[in-house]
Amino acid sequence: MRVDPRDVIRVKRDGGRLGPELIDDFLTGYVEGRVEDYHASALLMAIFCHGLDDVELLAWTRSMLESGTTFDWSHLDGPMVDKHSTGGVGDKVSIPLAPALVACGAKVPMISGRGLGHTGGTLDKLEAYPGLRTELPIERIRSQMEELGFFIAAQTPDLVPADRKLYALRDAAGLVEAIPLIASSILSKKLAEGLDALVLDVKFGAGSFLPDHEKGLRLAGRMAGLAKGFGLPMTVVLSSMEQPLGRMVGHANEINESLDCLRGEGPRDLVDLTVRQGGEALLACGLAEVLQAGEDRMRASFSDGSAMEVFQHFLKAQGAEGDLSKDLPTASGEAFLVAPKDGYLACLDCRQVGVALQALGGARVEIGGGLDHGVGLEVLARHGDWVEGGQPLVHITHRDGKGVEEAQMHLARAYQVALEPPNPVGETRTLV
Ligand code: URA
Repeated sequence: MRVDPRDVIRVKRDGGRLGPELIDDFLTGYVEGRVEDYHASALLMAIFCHGLDDVELLAWTRSMLESGTTFDWSHLDGPMVDKHSTGGVGDKVSIPLAPALVACGAKVPMISGRGLGHTGGTLDKLEAYPGLRTELPIERIRSQMEELGFFIAAQTPDLVPADRKLYALRDAAGLVEAIPLIASSILSKKLAEGLDALVLDVKFGAGSFLPDHEKGLRLAGRMAGLAKGFGLPMTVVLSSMEQPLGRMVGHANEINESLDCLRGEGPRDLVDLTVRQGGEALLACGLAEVLQAGEDRMRASFSDGSAMEVFQHFLKAQGAEGDLSKDLPTASGEAFLVAPKDGYLACLDCRQVGVALQALGGARVEIGGGLDHGVGLEVLARHGDWVEGGQPLVHITHRDGKGVEEAQMHLARAYQVALEPPNPVGETRTLV
């Protein structure tokens, strides 16, 4: 069927319902170049305003998924699992989680993303390793899965091409924050990985991608419905992004902290969240009978060195030069944010910590832009701690003074010291 794209736009513009054929014709035409960017942005805006109901969302996601290659791992043993996080400040969970899951008997085909704005991306963090490649051709991805049962790589041009085009357009047109568009974008890529189970970490709090808690819950609900529609077992975990996860923010910094976690020595919040998500993944894919057993296996893979061993194989397979932490870039400038007075520390705007990293040059400001892997922040005191005036709260690593004053200003907005203890940060919980 060939439909005039303007007829599809009109239906949604007027609040109507799009049938699966209309959706498929439009998206296929967009990927093939028959439908122009201006048509697609008009339809995306109409969807932004009127939404997609569950039947439309399923059809939209299916068309995106079928726009390119999908993986089939039926010739490999072991369940395929992955996790996705809606993103936050200092969220490096994927890096220790993926090798630990492999050490526990799962396989992890992880298509991951880059950071934009105040939230970091796993690929950028891994690229702190000189020589490490994340843009892998599809054949290399397949052979690495066969050899190692694990990869972390960027979306390839033939994987969900509809999402590549639509995401760039949404970014350029200010249309990223629409729940059905986010849900279909994330899940089409995860479905293309050929998974048996997925854990979705929906972050809430000021440092998250969707700080509005109610919106985060709506996204989780839409994604849970979609996963069910595709028959993909998916567990949704809700976790706090009210303060940075762990102590380290910045690329080389976060790799070092991930290595601590792989050694079983990382900060408690990071280790606990990694273990929780891993436990949920092992439970969802049948490698654990109850959550506690999955969590115990995760912790054992850290303490017996098996997760670290898998990670070292991964580094070699993806071209990292040097070993573990020795060759990671570091900037040499040092500065601090200090407590202005005695009192309880509260992290009131975690997003500002991500923006401070950006000011130092450690985060991307535009798609395709550069970043400095060697700058970063170490958070020396946690939300709720009693601190004394003059005590260092954040250690800043900078390159030749670039952005230090701006970073200090953002950090001063993020943290407040008061005589009353702040409300505790929210607990991690499993939603579905
Ligand atoms: N991440 C994605 O992959 N897609 C979105 O739309 C938002 C975040």
